[in-house]
Amino acid sequence: MSFWQRLTKPFWVLAPMEDVTDSVFRRMVISVGRPDVCFTEFTNIDSIIHAFNTSPLTPLLNSGEGNKRREVLSSVPALQRLVFSEIERPIVAQIWGVDPEKFYEAGQIIKKMGFDGVDINLGCPVKDVVKIGACAAMIGNTSRVAEIIAAVRESGLPVSVKTRIGYDRIITEEWIDFLLGQKLAVITIHGRTAREMSKVSNRWEEIGKAVAIRDGLMHVTNPSSSAFPSDGTPSVRFVSYAFAGRTLIIGNGDVKSVEHAEEMVEKYGVDGVMIGRGVLENIGCFREFSNRNYQFTKIERTELLKKHLRMWGETWGENKNFSVLKKYVKVYVRDFEGSREMREKLVAAKDYSGLVSLVDSYQM
Ligand SMILES: Cc1cc2nc3c(=O)[nH]c(=O)nc-3n(C[C@H](O)[C@H](O)[C@H](O)COP(=O)(O)O)c2cc1C
Repeated sequence: MSFWQRLTKPFWVLAPMEDVTDSVFRRMVISVGRPDVCFTEFTNIDSIIHAFNTSPLTPLLNSGEGNKRREVLSSVPALQRLVFSEIERPIVAQIWGVDPEKFYEAGQIIKKMGFDGVDINLGCPVKDVVKIGACAAMIGNTSRVAEIIAAVRESGLPVSVKTRIGYDRIITEEWIDFLLGQKLAVITIHGRTAREMSKVSNRWEEIGKAVAIRDGLMHVTNPSSSAFPSDGTPSVRFVSYAFAGRTLIIGNGDVKSVEHAEEMVEKYGVDGVMIGRGVLENIGCFREFSNRNYQFTKIERTELLKKHLRMWGETWGENKNFSVLKKYVKVYVRDFEGSREMREKLVAAKDYSGLVSLVDSYQM
């Protein structure tokens, strides 16, 4: 049984967000309100394989524990996205690419790194990845996707996919029906096509449809069901459908709070909900029920930013782009009187130490 099956339902997941949900941000989110599962940012399989095979530091990766491993990984830019610490478990590495053989190799590396699960990105609609046939461009390409999933499953880790309801038109039924036959631990569904990007509102009813398909298959796996083969030799399709009933479905899109997530669970029957941008608006969105509506004070928000900056320095040193760090200012410096002015001053900082001293100049 994988960690996914052991989660208490419904469960809440922190969405993968490139240049946002790195190890430092995930630890910050956890420190104020823990999601049940975290994902890494999506990481290209070719970069993983290249960095892993060519970095002179790679041998240290397997010999080193904890801090040592982090030190090694954070100094190799292509592997920074795969840095994590124990507190972030269960942690799922999200990967993307095109070639099934490389997916196999990347899966083996992810396993060696100690991840709890591996997720295949079949949903990113960004031009650069779609034009090489990766991510959302694979929606509907059943033969390639089946090969990729089988290759990643060789890692022995629970395999999940994150996808959309179609590429340029909605194909929820056929796409989800296909995915449910692939022995996946989890399917995360964003309720828009790739073409729609974020221009229309999330179609939760399509996600509900996917749940109904899965639940229909659960029914089929019941031996008393009329669909159970009478000669006692279930077909391959039937056997994989038996697994399909165990595939969990996570809904994703436009959910801003756990209250809202609970409503979606109630209405559409998903096993869990993944929240992305909602965390940027309210870093405490995964807090315990009694604390959910707690408003952080200006002092607390500034202290959180200081903590983020400290952890950033400890984890990345000089190895990460400062422009990425500046984006977090908005996550903390908001929702109090004078926050806009303070934000404007802080984002004018030229480098890490400049930002640290500016934040420190706000005496509380
Ligand atoms: C800045 C940003 C970066 C993202 N990066 C990824 C990524 O690396 N992998 C992925 O599967 N989705 C990525 N997404 C999509 C989110 O995981 C999520 O599906 C999307 O934001 C919708 O959920 P939300 O409405 O809760 O934000 C990204 C979204 C944003 C806003």
